[in-house]
Amino acid sequence: MTPPVDQDVVLKAEGISKIYSGTVALRHADFEVRRGAVNVLVGENGAGKSTLMKIIAGVEQPTTGRILIDGVPVELKNSADALRQGIGIVFQELNLFGNLSVAENIFAAREITHGVLGIDHLEQERRAAEVLARLQAGIEPGTPVETLRVGQQQLVEIAKAVMQDARILIMDEPTSALSAAEVEVLFRVIADLKARGVAIVYISHRLEELIRIGDFVTVLRDGQVTARSRIRDVDVPWIVRQMIGSDTKPFAKPDSSRHRP
Ligand SMILES: Nc1ncnc2c1ncn2[C@@H]1O[C@H](COP(=O)(O)OP(=O)(O)OP(=O)(O)O)[C@@H](O)[C@H]1O
Ligand SMILES: [Mg+2]
Repeated sequence: MTPPVDQDVVLKAEGISKIYSGTVALRHADFEVRRGAVNVLVGENGAGKSTLMKIIAGVEQPTTGRILIDGVPVELKNSADALRQGIGIVFQELNLFGNLSVAENIFAAREITHGVLGIDHLEQERRAAEVLARLQAGIEPGTPVETLRVGQQQLVEIAKAVMQDARILIMDEPTSALSAAEVEVLFRVIADLKARGVAIVYISHRLEELIRIGDFVTVLRDGQVTARSRIRDVDVPWIVRQMIGSDTKPFAKPDSSRHRP
């Protein structure tokens, strides 16, 4: 008999390990992604967050473990496989072509074409302008990306992911180069995507940010999941304790650590 599938869980990573030559980046990590929610992944530098996200986005392959979408095991051999499953990612390291325009970057590898006429640059720029307006980015679609400041490039990366219409949208440190005002706009866009049922995976070192926009939190420490909870049941000190490991228990639930004297 197959176990019942939690309808809210759109993606599940089970027992994921990743060994790079000499480095164990992930050890039997389990991670659940819920639809219509902001699923936070938090941990110190090198904890394995980006590695887990790259595995879910098909960019890296797990050494062991599997990914299930809607309860069905899937093989994500590359990012095109992940995209076909509706998984989009905003990479921590910007992944743009500096010499290409903003619109060309947003549609890179997914160009709008008309047979022999080739790429429809006008249509790409029109649609890029729409998504940039949604992000209130103040960026012209025809601008070469290399002339933009880093925060603007980050917005282009976000626009590119939003444009993919993903049902699972991974954001790995999307706000690291954004101004406070740009962060506010991004949060409104995230709230809007969430309301439309998109599952957001959100990574940030800004813990107050996580408490504010997150619904669920999973904590990684040295490649292992050490805690998970609903955000409403925890606070920043709890997250910090799970991240740095002052708690001696291998796996902590919020109730067991938060109310300790
Ligand atoms: N391509 C790679 N080859 C070898 N080791 C790697 C590779 N990518 C990551 N690692 C190692 O795997 C571990 C986890 O790295 P990862 O980038 O996933 O951490 P992270 O939690 O995203 O950290 P940060 O908060 O700094 O972004 C680290 O020890 C890192 O050095
Ligand atoms: Mg990272």
